[in-house]
Amino acid sequence: MSHPTYETIRVDVPAQGVGLVQFNRPQSLNALNAQMTGEAFTALEIFDADPAIHCMVLTGSERAFAAGADIKEMAGKTAVDMFAGADVTDWSRLMRIAKPIVAAVSGFALGGGCEIAMTCDMIVASETAVFGQPEINLGIIPGAGGTQRLTRAVGKALAMEIILTDRRLSAEEALRFGLVNRVSPVELYLKEAIELAQKVGERSQVAVRMAKDAVNKAYELSLAEGLVFEKRNFYLLFSTEDRAEGMNAFVEKRKANWKNK
Ligand code: HXC
Repeated sequence: MSHPTYETIRVDVPAQGVGLVQFNRPQSLNALNAQMTGEAFTALEIFDADPAIHCMVLTGSERAFAAGADIKEMAGKTAVDMFAGADVTDWSRLMRIAKPIVAAVSGFALGGGCEIAMTCDMIVASETAVFGQPEINLGIIPGAGGTQRLTRAVGKALAMEIILTDRRLSAEEALRFGLVNRVSPVELYLKEAIELAQKVGERSQVAVRMAKDAVNKAYELSLAEGLVFEKRNFYLLFSTEDRAEGMNAFVEKRKANWKNK
């Protein structure tokens, strides 16, 4: 399926197997309105269904990954609007993407921007990245996973400080606390995110998918349940052509030729 015409995002295939989705509302620092999140999720879903794409990169601009949900759009909403309207609050489409997503984050990743980055599978940050959950300043709290994912990533004490007092994390702090994979100079962060996505894309895509699925279960299941889930995926991979190829290639001292089957 080809991409429709988008107004608030850009899409590209910057390297073999890598689908790039870029937020593009610079005038509002990529504030996440319904149109832009909808277009971004649609683009990711189209890449997810495309066998030529193995991994996606989600990015913004150098100045802002995304400065949060669009406050101007949210300002007039009632609780019932928010509850009923899938537009602002239903970001679960992002969680249903099966292929890995690398967030390439520069500048502001605030509120919903931080939450979207944390919902991705890995984060490459530029030196200028700033992570935060400033919702408390608006009389609300994070509503797309911030209280849960940030707490799991950095621990309760720091998550409380970030969410209760709008403490911001620099890129270096985010690295130290385990929120991001690496920090790169601003002129390199996108390139490095694309390279990381390419590395994922060079592996057996069946195994990559099972691995993403199993790691994400670590968020949701007890250790005992998670271990059972992991073991099922592990055994299941013994039915794939790629498992036979991977092990034969090792024994024959050659590079594996993945079929993604
Ligand atoms: C709407 C926004 C915006 C936002 C910035 N803008 N953030 N518009 N929603 N979240 C707009 C500004 O109004 C301004 O446009 C333009 O972008 C540039 O912003 P400035 O404030 O002039 O830039 P600067 O002084 O550099 O400050 C940058 C900033 C600040 C620190 C990021 O803009 C800011 O604090 N933004 C709000 C951050 C925030 O509270 N995010 C959480 C939102 S709640 P105009 O036209 O006015 O000049 C949320 C809940 C998620 O995310 C729930 C998920 C379901």
